[in-house]
Amino acid sequence: IESQFSIQKLSGKKLLVTAGPTKEALDPIRFLSNQSSGKMGYAIAEAARQAGAEVTLISGASLSDPKGMTVVHVTSAQEMHDAVMQRFATCDAVIKAAAVADYRPEHVASRKIKKSDGPMTLTMVRNPDILKALGEHKTDQLLVGFAAETDHLEDYAKKKLKSKHLDMLVANHASDGFGSETNKVTLYFADGRKQALERMQKQQVARHICNALSGLFEMSGS
Ligand code: CTP
Ligand code: CA
Repeated sequence: IESQFSIQKLSGKKLLVTAGPTKEALDPIRFLSNQSSGKMGYAIAEAARQAGAEVTLISGASLSDPKGMTVVHVTSAQEMHDAVMQRFATCDAVIKAAAVADYRPEHVASRKIKKSDGPMTLTMVRNPDILKALGEHKTDQLLVGFAAETDHLEDYAKKKLKSKHLDMLVANHASDGFGSETNKVTLYFADGRKQALERMQKQQVARHICNALSGLFEMSGS
């Protein structure tokens, strides 16, 4: 199957792919995180490599490293932010499949929190919106975002596409992708086009996303 895809549609392109959850520390032992497995992002990184791209995978997931690419492991949203920003100027596209925590605990205890400390109130502060920052700083990079929603999928998808200055947004219902080997997504494009895909293996979804990205590179004349 790899040979069918080896038309090298992304050859010469430098891609940053982010994947998995971020983990926000509470104390040396505990963290807050989310349900993302990282499988979608890893599938995209692999599909992009097969299509000839030079891939850097920035990951908060606990999956084994794919071959043939640079893998950078991060824990918190702030670390993912720094890892992405450091490499942004020299890449051609960013695919932000990671489920970045929107908030982190305001204080990280330096010692294990004890239950004898009594009832606990947690104050959370906002993390940087990495993709939004990329949208504000981009020169000619293509930006691909993701959105998993429980409701009003199309409305939120279109809003995120605009507010983050994205070229493409991959949207799905939260119930369709998390923890699964398959996903059912719709691709929304900055020019108003929309492509609804059937439910399929994440590897196949990844190939559709890479094909769509290659189309965007062609349209942008690069
Ligand atoms: N994203 C990001 N940095 C954040 C939050 C989100 O880069 N701090 C990226 C995600 O990787 C994803 C896209 O933004 O590609 C959309 O994430 P999502 O959580 O759906 O959107 P938010 O803007 O965080 O809005 P909300 O969670 O309130 O729906
Ligand atoms: Ca969010």
